[in-house]
Amino acid sequence: MAEPKLRDLLPSTAEFRDAVFAGLSSDPKTLPTAYLYDETGARLFEAICTLDEYYPTRTEIAIMRDHAAAMARELGPRVRLVEPGAGALTKVRYLLAHLDDPVDFVPIDISIEQLENEARILAKEFPELPVHPVAADFTEAFALPPVDPPPARTVIYYPGSTIGNFLPEDQVAFLLRMRELIGSQGALLVGVDLYKDLSKLLPAYDDAAGVTAAFTKNLLARINRELDGTFDTGLFEHRASFEAEPSRVVLEAVSSVDQTVEVAGRSFHFAAGEAVRTEYSHKPTLEAFAKLAGTAGLLVRRVWTDEDDMFSVQLLEPAS
Ligand code: AVI
Repeated sequence: MAEPKLRDLLPSTAEFRDAVFAGLSSDPKTLPTAYLYDETGARLFEAICTLDEYYPTRTEIAIMRDHAAAMARELGPRVRLVEPGAGALTKVRYLLAHLDDPVDFVPIDISIEQLENEARILAKEFPELPVHPVAADFTEAFALPPVDPPPARTVIYYPGSTIGNFLPEDQVAFLLRMRELIGSQGALLVGVDLYKDLSKLLPAYDDAAGVTAAFTKNLLARINRELDGTFDTGLFEHRASFEAEPSRVVLEAVSSVDQTVEVAGRSFHFAAGEAVRTEYSHKPTLEAFAKLAGTAGLLVRRVWTDEDDMFSVQLLEPAS
């Protein structure tokens, strides 16, 4: 198993190119979702989170504000809290403010620089709390740093419904890996956006100001910047649609004309109206998510939602 590393683990240009080649050669065409988040993409995503139409961020924050005390009570004292994909550490503050004598906080990300800055700010706010940022790619197996004194339990906090951007089989693989990491006494607190009326769901992914469209098209522009691509972003339209099975929003860039695009010396043909998928955002019912968690050997112990049941924060524990 990989040891935690205190250095950046950003993927190489060759990995990006190979992932783009594979995606553009598949049917339907896809692009690797993780690459949406370069500097421009991360800025656009922050802007998305503040949009009127994009309800998940403010709804989840309200759930944390209203229920973090109850969550902390469920988790118990002397927890080691681990946050994979930790960005600005906004939501975890609600939990940290209520945890009883936490032993350690371990934010994990592939980019150590932002992580260390955020960890420094957090450490000032919570002077009693040991904070140990770790650079790791949590989509692969990784080990946690040793902690002394040993915690009562390890709890993974994974907010933002980021799990919904993985394919169902990758969601199960992720949950299985997390279950292994927390051991039999551990727990997982995960943010899961839920299925809802499409009149609410689709505008969240196709806002009037076109910020989500810019976010999608930035991936094409990134390919131009980093892989010598020739995408004309004016010849692609952003589209958000819903696929009932397996209950997900599909985000794609649709070619408005018949055209050929070059990427790193290879040609890819798009028919007029042909789409390239950039992202899935799965929207399970509570029942469907419980079933998926069960496949990974996890039991849903508690669910906190907003009053309209739009979003959920769920406490999962090993089934045996
Ligand atoms: C990060 N993730 C949970 C977002 C979502 O809602 O699926 C990504 C996103 N893409 C477009 N808008 C938001």
